[in-house]
Amino acid sequence: MKPPLKALLEGFGLVVGGLGTFCCYEIYTENQKFYANCFMPLIHKVLDAETAHKAAVKALAWNLLPGRKHHDDPSLRQVIWNKEFQNPVGIAAGFDKDAEAMVGLSNMGFGFIEVGSVTPLPQIGNPKPRVFRLYEDKAVINRYGFNSCGQEAAKHRLNKFDQHQCRGNIVLGVNLGKNKTSTDDVADYITGVRQLGKYADYIVINVSSPNTAGLRNLQQKKRLETLCKAILQERDKLVNKPPVLVKIAPDLSDDDKQDIAKVVLECNVEGLIVSNTTVRRPESLRSVHKKEVGGLSGLPVRDVSTKLISEMYQLTEGKVPIIGVGGISNGTEAYEKIKAGASLVQIYTALVYGGPPVLTNMKKDLVEHLHKDGYENISQAIGAVHQ
Ligand SMILES: Cc1cc2nc3c(=O)[nH]c(=O)nc-3n(C[C@H](O)[C@H](O)[C@H](O)COP(=O)(O)O)c2cc1C
Ligand SMILES: *[C@@H]1O[C@H](CO)[C@@H](O)[C@H](O)[C@H]1NC(C)=O
Ligand SMILES: *[C@@H]1O[C@H](CO)[C@@H](O)[C@H](O)[C@H]1NC(C)=O
Ligand SMILES: *[C@@H]1O[C@H](CO)[C@@H](O)[C@H](O)[C@H]1NC(C)=O
Ligand SMILES: *[C@@H]1O[C@H](CO)[C@@H](O)[C@H](O)[C@H]1NC(C)=O
Ligand SMILES: *[C@@H]1O[C@H](CO)[C@@H](O)[C@H](O)[C@H]1NC(C)=O
Repeated sequence: MKPPLKALLEGFGLVVGGLGTFCCYEIYTENQKFYANCFMPLIHKVLDAETAHKAAVKALAWNLLPGRKHHDDPSLRQVIWNKEFQNPVGIAAGFDKDAEAMVGLSNMGFGFIEVGSVTPLPQIGNPKPRVFRLYEDKAVINRYGFNSCGQEAAKHRLNKFDQHQCRGNIVLGVNLGKNKTSTDDVADYITGVRQLGKYADYIVINVSSPNTAGLRNLQQKKRLETLCKAILQERDKLVNKPPVLVKIAPDLSDDDKQDIAKVVLECNVEGLIVSNTTVRRPESLRSVHKKEVGGLSGLPVRDVSTKLISEMYQLTEGKVPIIGVGGISNGTEAYEKIKAGASLVQIYTALVYGGPPVLTNMKKDLVEHLHKDGYENISQAIGAVHQ
C-alpha cells in the first residue's frame, strides 16, 4: 500500500474510532442531549418503529446496555401492596410484551416492570406496518393487535427469572390479555391468573371498554363486576395472592368512570392503571401519520390522563393506589401525575424519543421537586392537589 493512502486510511480509522469511542462514552454516561438529538434520531433514520422496538428489547435481553447498580434516593422509596418500590417509575405494558428483557430493564433503573399483554395462546397480531412515530407530536400510534408469545412461553421465562434470582428488588407486574378469537374474556383472564399469577407481584386486567351509551350502562357495570369477582376469586387460590389492578382507557364516559370506581371499591380491586392509549385524535396533531388507526400515546394523552387520574382518585376516595401513565417524559410531568393522585408512574413513548436518560433524569428531578415542596418522600405528595 502506498504510504499516503495508508496514512489516509489510518487517519480515517482514527476519526471513525474516535467517533465510535465518543458515542460509546456518551451512551455510557447517558448524556440526555446526545440521546435526544443524535442517537435516537439516528436509530429512527435507519430503523422503522417496530424494528427499533425489537432491537431495544433484544439489546436489553442480552444486557448490552451499561448496567449499573442504581442507588435511588431514599425519598423515592415506597411500600405499596406490601411490596417495596425503590423508585416510583416503571416501564409500561407493551414494551416487554414477551417477558424477555426483565433483567436489562431492571439494570436500567426502573422501580418496577410490567410485562405483557400476554395472551393465552401465541398470536401474531395485525399486519405490518402497525407502529408509527409522530415526531412533531412526540407521540406514537400503535395497532400491534396484541402480538404475544402466549402464556406458555411467558411462563417459562418468568420461571427462569424467578429461579435464577436475577430478580433483586424489582417489582414485577404481569398484564393479561385475551386471545383475539376469544369469545369468553373472563375465561382467558382466569387462565392468565392460573398460569402466570404465581410469578407476579401484581396482575393487570384490561377494562378498556369503548364508549357506552347510557342505556347499556347497567349491563356494563354488571359485566365488570362479574369479571372482577371471577378474577379475584381465582387470585385468592394462589399462595402469593398478587393484587389485581384494572387498566382503563382515557376514552371513558362519566358514567363509565363512576361505574368502574364503584366496582373497584365494592369488589376490593387493589389498584387502577390510568391510562391506556386513546382512540381519539386531538385537533392539535400535526404528523403525517395522525390518521393511522390505533392507540395514540405520548404527549397528546398527557393531560387527558392526568385529569382522569384526578377524577379516579376522587371517585375512589384516595383508597386505591393508582399507577399514572400517559405522556410522561420528565420529572415535572411525573410529579404532576403524583400530585393528581398517582402513587406510581409508568413510561413508554418518551423512551422512544429520549432513550434511557429519560428515566435517570426523571428520578433526579422528582427528588428535587419533593425537596422543593418540603416533602420527605413520595407518599406525602400523592394527591396533593386535592388537599
Ligand atoms: C407500541 C405500544 C404498545 C403497547 N402495548 C400495550 C399492551 O400490550 N398492553 C397494554 O396494556 N398497554 C399497551 N400499551 C399502552 C402503554 O402501556 C401505555 O398505557 C400508553 O402508551 C401511555 O403511556 P405513554 O404515553 O408513556 O406511552 C402500548 C403502548 C405502545 C406505545
Ligand atoms: C415517608 O415520610 C413519612 C413522614 O416522615 C414517614 O412516616 C413514612 O414512613 C415515610 N415513608 C417511607 C416509605 O419512607
Ligand atoms: C381490552 O379490552 C378491549 C375491550 O373489551 C378489547 O377489545 C381488547 O381486545 C382487550 N385487550 C386485550 C389485550 O385483551
Ligand atoms: C384462548 O386460549 C385458551 C388457552 O389455550 C383456550 O383454552 C381458550 O379456548 C382460547 N379462547 C378462545 C375462545 O379462543
Ligand atoms: C388499549 O387501547 C387500545 C386502543 O387505544 C385497545 O385496542 C386495547 O385493547 C386497550 N387495552 C390494552 C390492554 O392495551
Ligand atoms: C417536560 O416536558 C414537557 C413536554 O415535552 C415540556 O414542555 C417541559 O418544558 C418539560 N419540563 C422540564 C422541566 O423539562
